[in-house]
Order: sequence, then C-alpha cells, then structure tokens
Amino acid sequence: MEKGLILWFTGLSGAGKTTISRIVAEKLKSRGCKVEILDGDIVRENLSKGLTFSKEDRDINVKRIGFVAHLLSRNGVVAITAAISPYKEIRNSIREMDENFIEVYIKAPLEVCEKRDVKGLYAKARAGEIKQFTGIDDPYEAPDNPEITCNTDQETIEESVGKIISSLEKLGYLA
Ligand code: ADX
Repeated sequence: MEKGLILWFTGLSGAGKTTISRIVAEKLKSRGCKVEILDGDIVRENLSKGLTFSKEDRDINVKRIGFVAHLLSRNGVVAITAAISPYKEIRNSIREMDENFIEVYIKAPLEVCEKRDVKGLYAKARAGEIKQFTGIDDPYEAPDNPEITCNTDQETIEESVGKIISSLEKLGYLA
C-alpha cells in the first residue's frame, strides 16, 4: 500500500494555504496518490459547524482536523490540511500522534495578507466588526522547525508548489 502522510499547512488567513493545497493535491493525484484536503473554511461548515474563534474552539477544530487527517494518513491517503492552526502546542501534539507528519509553513507578512484581503475580513477586523481575528487581535504562533516554508510574498505559486513536491521526493514519500 502507498504511504500516507499528513501535509500540515499552517499560516495566516490570506497567506495562500487553500490555493497551494489545491494545486499540490492535483499534482499528487496525477502521480497516483490518494489525496484529501481538510480546509479550515470547509471543515467549519461541516465537522466543526458552530465553533467560534476562541482559543478553546480553535483547539477543538484543529484537533478534529488532526484526528481525521491521522485516520486518512494511516490508510495510505495524503491528508492535506489547510487551517490557520495558530497554536504551536496543538500542531506539535498532532505531530506526536502521526509519524508521517510534514509541517508546511505558508508564510507571508501580515501586511501582505491584509493588502490581499481576499475575503474582505481584514478590513472588517480592523473596523472592529470581527473580533479575535488572527494576526490582528488574536495570536499566530509561527512554527519553529517546519519541514517546508513557502514564502508566498517572494515566490510564485508554482515555485511554492514545486518546493513542496520536491521535499516530498527528498523525504521519500514520492518516487
Ligand atoms: S483555525 O484558527 O481554527 O485554524 P480556520 O482555518 O479553521 O481557523 O478558519 C479560518 C478562516 O475562518 C479564515 O480563513 C477566515 O476565512 C475565517 N475567519 C472568520 N473569523 C475569523 C477569525 N476571527 N480569525 C481567523 N479567521 C477567521
């Protein structure tokens, strides 16, 4: 059976997690991998419906994503997660649970994410219409030692995707 893994994306809203995860998923599928994406926005409409953005609820959300990702990974699926997952401790606890855990820091300065403001949420957060918005009035703890970092303010999407695929090759997950 093929080797599963968790490809754990973390980063600010608007850093590029969803975009990059989708392209990586397609590339992996075209190379014969079974792939699932667990995207924060989608998980929050289903598995985590009703949860808020308090620390407690984010922790519950991220642990649920980790739990499902682990079930997939141990069955030979590449589980790509794309949630902000702002707390280091929870990310590390998922790393402890699954020996095939690759952390991908989708990194862009707050100013850049805010300028992109793809969903218009940073403007709302600045206006005080949304509270506890990550990076504005809620913390984001960057990973200390991610296996992969994509600097999306300096690289093209193709470069970021290429970095991830070649890291998976080097780590022995892809032929
Ligand atoms: S996490 O912190 O629990 O990992 P998750 O990735 O599921 O977050 O959800 C983040 C998405 O929810 C953002 O991309 C944004 O679209 C939306 N969102 C709404 N309110 C907030 C908030 N207060 N902080 C961050 N994201 C928010």
